[in-house]
Amino acid sequence: MGKPAHGGNLVWASALAGCPPSAILDFSASISPLGPPDSVLTAIQSQLCNLRHYPDPEYSDLRIALSHFHQLPCEWIMPGNGSAELLSLVGRELAEFATTVLMTPAFGDYYRALSAHNAKVLEFPLISDESKVSRAELIQSAELIQSAELKVLSAELLNELITQHDSLSTTHSILNTQHSILSTTHSARLTQHDSLLLNNPHNPTGMLFSRETLKSCLDKFALVVIDEAFMDFLPPHEQQSLVSAVQDYPNLVILRSLTKFYSIPGLRLGYVIAHPDRLRRYRAWRDPWSVNTLALAAGVAALDDTEFQANTWKWLPNARRQLFEGLSQISGLKPLPSVANFLLVESKYSCVELQQRLLKNYQILIRDCLSFPQLEDRFFRVAVRTELDNKRLLTALNVLI
Ligand SMILES: Cc1ncc(COP(=O)(O)O)c(C=O)c1O
Repeated sequence: MGKPAHGGNLVWASALAGCPPSAILDFSASISPLGPPDSVLTAIQSQLCNLRHYPDPEYSDLRIALSHFHQLPCEWIMPGNGSAELLSLVGRELAEFATTVLMTPAFGDYYRALSAHNAKVLEFPLISDESKVSRAELIQSAELIQSAELKVLSAELLNELITQHDSLSTTHSILNTQHSILSTTHSARLTQHDSLLLNNPHNPTGMLFSRETLKSCLDKFALVVIDEAFMDFLPPHEQQSLVSAVQDYPNLVILRSLTKFYSIPGLRLGYVIAHPDRLRRYRAWRDPWSVNTLALAAGVAALDDTEFQANTWKWLPNARRQLFEGLSQISGLKPLPSVANFLLVESKYSCVELQQRLLKNYQILIRDCLSFPQLEDRFFRVAVRTELDNKRLLTALNVLI
């Protein structure tokens, strides 16, 4: 079996570790360790008898729940079979623009969704020796952010990357259908015909772009897609979501996931928020029943579970601090400050080797970063888990390193 491109591949990991998949302690997929909530499991149970019927093709109950949750009319919301399904629809539209700008390292599935439609990609490195914003500067600014009350990446970084694009040396990539990247380095000049695809918080670095920074992008790009898959891990007063701006910007598309925060990646559930005309177009491109009956009920219950949400916001800051500090104390490891439920860690040691030894000796799975060409074997990513699980990882690392 080849190396997985995504985290959470327990079948692959268990074959290496020589144990059943259920015995693996998974730090590789950034999924909340607190869920699924009981409310969600109960809702799923209650719908088993309805499996003999087709799901409501309008997904009305879930759209109404999402409409209350986000204070938006239902027509602006379309559920999907995980945000990954919706990303495929977005990829089809992005391919209509001259180029799509990606901030790299970028989530690997963006390349899949764009290459499927032969989209042209312009890569702007967030971490690069050649970039104007050097790695050292980036880490320094991230450290400043960590110490600040509101951990928002200042507008400077993205503005520097976007507004000074004329003089920036970037990699211009043309994706072909085999998913390989044909790259040439050259000076890029963005036009009004370009689009932007960015996740906020950013995976895998864990940075947060401020709402103001992203709003400035809305004037520069013909289409801006913000993937907010991890936004709900921030408490409401720290979130920098653009959902409240969507009715003011017809060129804005927001992707959201319910699989990470509510711990239901096996069920598949996400949604897209955008202008109703755009959603009608996306709908015409896909299957009539992408979201199943169980997922629809789970989504309604999850959005209503304010106790689970509050528990998550209480758990994450302490557990993340514990993991961050524990990793920082291991010589040769340097975690990057993160607002999300995962940490990107720079390592002096081969991360692939570390991954294998953790699996074979401790049945612990971490995410290597080989699928991010800019990071390669120098970085790994770990999810923040319960304090007990985090301690298991730290103890194992302290023995191995
Ligand atoms: C940034 C980002 N967006 C989207 C997704 C896909 O999430 P979903 O489970 O909703 O398809 C992932 C999954 O890892 C992700 O990391």
